[in-house]
Amino acid sequence: MIHPIDRARAIERFEAIPRLALGHYPTPVEKLPRLRDALGGGPRLWMKRDDYTGPGCGGNKVRKLEYVLAAAQADGADAVITCGGVRSNHCRATAMMAARLGMHCVLVQNQPAKPYPHLPASLAIEQMSGAQIVPVYDRTERAPTMERIARELRTQGRHPAIVPLGASTPQGALGFVSAASELAAQLDARQLRIDAVFFSSSSGGTHAGLAAGKELFLNPAMRLIGVSPDDPSESIAATVRGILQGIAIRLGAEMDAEIEVLDDYIGEGYGIESEAGREALQLLARTEGILLDPVYTAKAMAALIGWIRKGILDKDANVLFWHTGGQMALFHA
Ligand SMILES: Cc1ncc(COP(=O)(O)O)c(C=O)c1O
Repeated sequence: MIHPIDRARAIERFEAIPRLALGHYPTPVEKLPRLRDALGGGPRLWMKRDDYTGPGCGGNKVRKLEYVLAAAQADGADAVITCGGVRSNHCRATAMMAARLGMHCVLVQNQPAKPYPHLPASLAIEQMSGAQIVPVYDRTERAPTMERIARELRTQGRHPAIVPLGASTPQGALGFVSAASELAAQLDARQLRIDAVFFSSSSGGTHAGLAAGKELFLNPAMRLIGVSPDDPSESIAATVRGILQGIAIRLGAEMDAEIEVLDDYIGEGYGIESEAGREALQLLARTEGILLDPVYTAKAMAALIGWIRKGILDKDANVLFWHTGGQMALFHA
């Protein structure tokens, strides 16, 4: 646990870091009583609605990009280059936030093995935003392609910034340090203690930011349970630890949290709907009128539902599900 003096100093450093004010905060914390009833009781359930963060149809990327793009602009960047798949929430959010800031945007996008029969909504939105889309056919081509485009833009007199996958750098993860501070204020105002938080964890920025933010602002006993939509637990946990160390260096405090990632709700693989995920998506829509996404949040919610059904969570606990957005994956143009 972090020493109170180190904590105060880390908070001071954190608050001095520039951030763009593009999102809509605080995102609501809502109770899920009908979901709880449908599950036959169990812990009291809450949801943090980061599907309402705003730009580019919301989601967790907005918080990260507010820090990453602030740093890029401070370095004089007038163009942003990033990467992802053709349904990437990160690419969509980057394209729309870059448009809002008047920055040129280039998206290096992996093409699916089998082309989608329709234009994915995220890609349609990116095209609308005027982002330039550069296809690649293998994940290993992403980084060198981004570097090549950066060189080309420089020869044209532009000042490009490269944003790595998911904006999951220590800088981007600061968005979730700030989200933890936002949640702490909401919990204080309601006199509410949350015992566990479930969320989708993939490129690690959300998880690392929450872990650091918990050290600074939240109840140290609160359990953070990341749910993988793709990679094995250990590989995601290692990435999260690396980003957390980067945050610790920036804030000048030691942070060595236990990182918990579940990988038994992936199903057949990344982006492939799972049976449990489909059930979770339908249950949330029918009980609470809340839309999840099939790639990330439905699988994370399936984990929470699974744990409730197995009786793993204490019946007296308060459990919060962090909705990280992504619903555009349900739609096509
Ligand atoms: C909707 C959604 N939820 C969760 C995640 C996972 O967040 P992170 O990459 O910060 O681990 C992503 C990442 O792409 C996402 O798009």
